[in-house]
Amino acid sequence: MARITASVFTSHVPAIGAALDLGKTQEDYWKPVFAGYDFSKQWMKDNPPDVIFLVFNDHATAFSLEMIPTFAIGTAADYQPADEGWGPRPVPKVIGHPDLAAHIAQSVIQQDFDLTIVNKMDVDHGLTVPLSLMCGQPQAWPCQVIPFAVNVVQYPVPSGRRCFQLGQAIRKAVESYDDDLNVHIWGTGGMSHQLQGARAGLINREWDNAWLDKLIADPVACANTPHIDYVREAGSEGIELVMWLIARGAMSDIVDGKVQGPAPTVKHRFYHVPASNTAVGHLILENN
Ligand code: DHB
Ligand code: FE
Repeated sequence: MARITASVFTSHVPAIGAALDLGKTQEDYWKPVFAGYDFSKQWMKDNPPDVIFLVFNDHATAFSLEMIPTFAIGTAADYQPADEGWGPRPVPKVIGHPDLAAHIAQSVIQQDFDLTIVNKMDVDHGLTVPLSLMCGQPQAWPCQVIPFAVNVVQYPVPSGRRCFQLGQAIRKAVESYDDDLNVHIWGTGGMSHQLQGARAGLINREWDNAWLDKLIADPVACANTPHIDYVREAGSEGIELVMWLIARGAMSDIVDGKVQGPAPTVKHRFYHVPASNTAVGHLILENN
């Protein structure tokens, strides 16, 4: 059967992609950001997944106010990097896993989560920047990717609790797939940032780090964080963090909605301010 062996959590700042693509990683501003991912790139080589189930948000690139799916699963054979206004990033196209994606859609919808099925979608920085941070600049991405888009842009957005429950359903789906695949689940976006309005530039280190502690050690309480706390404490775009709860809910210590199994191992934890307007947070958890 397929198994989720690890979860990865990371911010997705678009300027990080530009810094990589323009060869700026060794500049004073960017060096400490990329240094936080040195361990992670080696870890990816040492623990190569067959498939990444990559939870991200589209930023009005593939979707717009014309159509706003809350949860959308990519079932396509491949996905092109999107043109976000400066041309598409010079990164490889993303190769999907249509068979596993269709299986997950079937299982998760039958577990009462009404996913939108997406057979054609361009993928923006929400997906390509985490891949770049974790894999560097290869000719081809090292594995297949199932993009899973969550609406965290236009309210009403899903609750952290709903995301956490969805993660549990995704794990059940993966574990009922016959092929012997090593699957990683990634939660991306965050941490604290606000891109507009009177509080533009808001960063909250203390809240971010307390939330990371809770995500690791008390994920049920973390999942019960209300929307207003993210917005008040972590800024309007801090709400992207609910996506991390999908990946955390898919870890094997969560049984019947509670922490009952052996805790995952924290392989890596990194936090850095600033990267563009954003506090960068990053975790790697391995199942035991
Ligand atoms: C920034 C962060 C984001 O999450 C995003 O989607 C766009 C911009 C930033 O920090 O500039
Ligand atoms: Fe974003």
